[in-house]
Amino acid sequence: MIYQTIILEINNKNALITINRPDKLNALNAIVMSELRDCLMELKKNENVSVIILTGSGQKAFVAGADISELSNLDMISAKEFSEKGQGIFNLIENFNKPVIAAVNGFALGGGCELALACHMRLASENAKFGQPEINLGLIPGYGGTQRLTRLINSGRSLELILTGDLIDAAEAYRLGIVNKVFPIEELMNKTYQLAFNIASKGQYAIRQAIKAVNMSNEVSRREGLNFETSLFSLCCGTDDFKEGTSAFLAKRKPVFKNKY
Ligand code: COA
Repeated sequence: MIYQTIILEINNKNALITINRPDKLNALNAIVMSELRDCLMELKKNENVSVIILTGSGQKAFVAGADISELSNLDMISAKEFSEKGQGIFNLIENFNKPVIAAVNGFALGGGCELALACHMRLASENAKFGQPEINLGLIPGYGGTQRLTRLINSGRSLELILTGDLIDAAEAYRLGIVNKVFPIEELMNKTYQLAFNIASKGQYAIRQAIKAVNMSNEVSRREGLNFETSLFSLCCGTDDFKEGTSAFLAKRKPVFKNKY
């Protein structure tokens, strides 16, 4: 499929989605959001893709937020639809059947920070800046930020960012646990691909179950989460990947996962 505002490149089991509105710091307008959803739906079914990387075009921004020129037209009725639609797309990322890694290469603000938070892992460049500056527009985050940021870094730290709208740099985002690792900008994509290749070499059925099990920890009690883990663990034990992984270990060779279930 051809997209206007995103670039999709697929190579070697990895798909790179680049949000491509560099003149607007990759702000999320309605077209970006709908193309992002279409692109994800396309990748969900693509058996040649194991891992998705999400980044922004240029070296200045990952995504500088929802497009404020569109945002400014919202009223109480349209805002509900706007927020629900955005949350739906970010939930799709969070619950995606393949790992989604954010390569945060600059400003990740407002909806851009929320987009990164919806991804399964976040790698950042040293020049990246994170923040939820909606308060400066008389708003609160509406694409899941109040929930995901709070679960990730705790309510006091989350409220400090949301109530002040202050931006933090990549080092502080790392210290708070928002990002997994920080690299010089020129290394960011290579390091992200290394992580993606590493994950793509594993048995993809187990990868899917791991994402589901970890995500479930945000939804249910610990007891229910443990029960869910047991059921997914058992499913993994019924796969050829499990037979291959364990036999390869015992035979002192590298496993070759066929990803057939
Ligand atoms: N929505 C729409 N346009 C945006 C945008 C957004 N969220 N963020 C940046 N842009 C546009 C600017 O309007 C400008 O467009 P123009 O050249 O047509 O005037 C262009 O991107 C470049 O941004 P600019 O502000 O000139 O860059 P800067 O380096 O001076 O500042 C930021 C960078 C990120 C600090 C600043 O753009 C900013 O504060 N953006 C809004 C962040 C925000 O509040 N996001 C949350 C929205 S809910």
